[in-house]
Amino acid sequence: MTKVLIATVKPFAPKAVEGIRKIADEAGYELALLEKYADQSDFVAAVADADALIIRSDKATREVIEAGKNLKIIVRAGAGYDNIDLEAATEKGVVVMNTPGQNANAVAELTLGMMVYLARNSFNGSAGIELMGKKLGLHAYGNVGRNVARIAHGFGMETYAFDPYISKEAIEKDGTHAVDSVEALYETCNYVSLHIPATDETRNSINEGLLSRMPEHAVLVNTARKEVVNEADLLKMFANRSDFYYIADVAPDCKDEIAEKFPGRFFFTPKKMGAQTAEANINAGLAAINQIRGFFENGETRFQVNK
Ligand code: 3PG
Repeated sequence: MTKVLIATVKPFAPKAVEGIRKIADEAGYELALLEKYADQSDFVAAVADADALIIRSDKATREVIEAGKNLKIIVRAGAGYDNIDLEAATEKGVVVMNTPGQNANAVAELTLGMMVYLARNSFNGSAGIELMGKKLGLHAYGNVGRNVARIAHGFGMETYAFDPYISKEAIEKDGTHAVDSVEALYETCNYVSLHIPATDETRNSINEGLLSRMPEHAVLVNTARKEVVNEADLLKMFANRSDFYYIADVAPDCKDEIAEKFPGRFFFTPKKMGAQTAEANINAGLAAINQIRGFFENGETRFQVNK
């Protein structure tokens, strides 16, 4: 019997697990659930007899992949797959997929939610500012960036995007201005929202050289990955520009120093929660099990990321 393991430190909403179970049952798969595990060794042990794995930000390391003697497919129920050792998977002939777009609206709603929270001084009753008329730069215009633009237009924000992988026409048909360089994006926008993946190219790439170009009342919003921001430069920005703010899902490693020295100029979620909605869990979870079915039953590999 084909065994599917869901391994999630941060569990899916119960409705999502229910939905996955229903599809697994229909397909005749055995479904195992490892939630909120305390130690990576629990994950390594649980994968031993699994044919397929559904994870979120869980770390599918070489050790995990090698322990999965029967493993044929890993589906990351979400967008970013920087938590998976693709090299180890490819060496072992394990197909890796993500479920692009399925949690994008949830992340986009959190992005705007955090922006409002900061603009209104954490809802503390003092006079804040409005988002209407402000310029929002989208650093990358994939599924999340596009959804952020859609919601931002409702707030009356002007949106700009830099994405070398997406055509100017595709960006502008949404009413977002396409800019030609990343520098121009930061020079133009009061708010810059990051939607880039964490790769060798992007880690630490959001640096002082870019951030210092931002105009007055500069807000950096990060619902992507904390690793893409250069933290030494982030601290310099806080120190050199009293009008610089940083809001992120999740906190940078230097959060204590920021909290101590720059109160009122940041907001960090305690746990990564952009995709933590029932809807996003259902969308991504069901997509994951359906992709596993498609793979086993018809050899479908549309969302494979280690081709
Ligand atoms: C993603 O890459 O899809 C998001 O960062 C969500 O991650 P999560 O599933 O761990 O919440």
